[in-house]
Amino acid sequence: LIESVRAREVLDSRGNPTVAVAVATSFGAVEEAMVPSGASTGAHEAVGKRDGDKKRYNGKGVLQAVGAVNEIIGPALEGLDATSQREIDRTLIELDGTPNKANLGANALLGVSLAVARAAAISLGVPLYRYLGGPSAATLPVPMMNVINGGKHAEGALQFQECMIVPVGAATIADAVRCGAEIFHTLGKMLHDAGHQTLVGDEGGYAPKLDSIDEALALLVQTIEKAGYRPGTEVAIALDAASTEFYRDGTYWPHKPDDHPFDAAQMVALYDGLCKNYPIVSIEDGLAEDDWEGWQLLTKTLGARVQLVGDDLFVTNVERLQRGIREGSGNAILVKVNQIGTLTETLDAVETAHKAGYRAVISHRSGETEDTTISDLAVATGAGQIKTGSLARSDRTAKYNRLMAIAEELGASTARYPGRSAFAALT
Ligand code: PGA
Ligand code: ZN
Repeated sequence: LIESVRAREVLDSRGNPTVAVAVATSFGAVEEAMVPSGASTGAHEAVGKRDGDKKRYNGKGVLQAVGAVNEIIGPALEGLDATSQREIDRTLIELDGTPNKANLGANALLGVSLAVARAAAISLGVPLYRYLGGPSAATLPVPMMNVINGGKHAEGALQFQECMIVPVGAATIADAVRCGAEIFHTLGKMLHDAGHQTLVGDEGGYAPKLDSIDEALALLVQTIEKAGYRPGTEVAIALDAASTEFYRDGTYWPHKPDDHPFDAAQMVALYDGLCKNYPIVSIEDGLAEDDWEGWQLLTKTLGARVQLVGDDLFVTNVERLQRGIREGSGNAILVKVNQIGTLTETLDAVETAHKAGYRAVISHRSGETEDTTISDLAVATGAGQIKTGSLARSDRTAKYNRLMAIAEELGASTARYPGRSAFAALT
């Protein structure tokens, strides 16, 4: 049974305040969860509450969300069974009472939802991935590692937000992490030798001032080879265009220096060309969050060859995902717990995707903490893919380290690393 629910204000990886919630159960378990936060947030996401008090943290304080947990949510949950996650999440949604969770705040709700799950697992004496995924949960995710940060996550000229390496040829998650780290360091040296700065962006990837996506992709392929891996067969590439960020007045502006506008069909042609020239297995948010028509064209043109992931498009929301499934928009969903605000709704989104033959990619946010719940979530759902940043900065490496710990615990004969089979287009 839940004995107490306590929230406090802590810092995230960008130095902004966020919500931490600790849940204590009558079994003596106390577990804490911390809430992440995005920068390139979608318009249809659940809303995390910020105080707006300019005298504290430049308005970004979360004392109201903390207060909502301590004064409203906590008392309502005390005495409930911590293992009744669905019932608890339903209670949270009812207490908030708004469709986008803006009343108490999605950050308040999510902190409680995740902390309850963590405390329930500890109370039952099982690891979180097994508590949520059952005894057969043994599939580690293939990571998409964001080694070049652009868009809203960095200061360079690159409009595309993320250029990621995907170790599809690795045999285990530990091999995948080593491969990623080796390429990350090789890339740092290549950038340095070419006279670029090697500072990192919000997700721990380099943020060089590159002129075009072509330049970034060519550099990545070169780097993969230099690090001793075969591009495509051993290490593939994934993109997050985060194109909503460069979509204005019905037009895309994908190039920064001498900028000229693209319509959806021209964007699709741009991606088609990139996929022919580079070993790209996945493109996220290739088109904007409400460009449903464009997404249909993109999916018709590239869907059989490339994974097309909806992040801002679907926002981990079952209703938006169902529309996409009906209309043939995308073939995969990015899954971010704070886009929807409760664990149950997150698990429902993954299940809806899998039932429709869509892949699911469990994801961090650009603002993260040391919380590693998403690593367990990736194994629990058997999603087969995770997006959790570069191979530097503890907010990112904590997730990789947790995945390696899970693999170790499962043992070499049980832990499965899906490699190429994680991607429909490669199988
Ligand atoms: P965000 O970026 O957390 O800033 O939204 C991550 C992404 O777009 O996938
Ligand atoms: Zn994204």
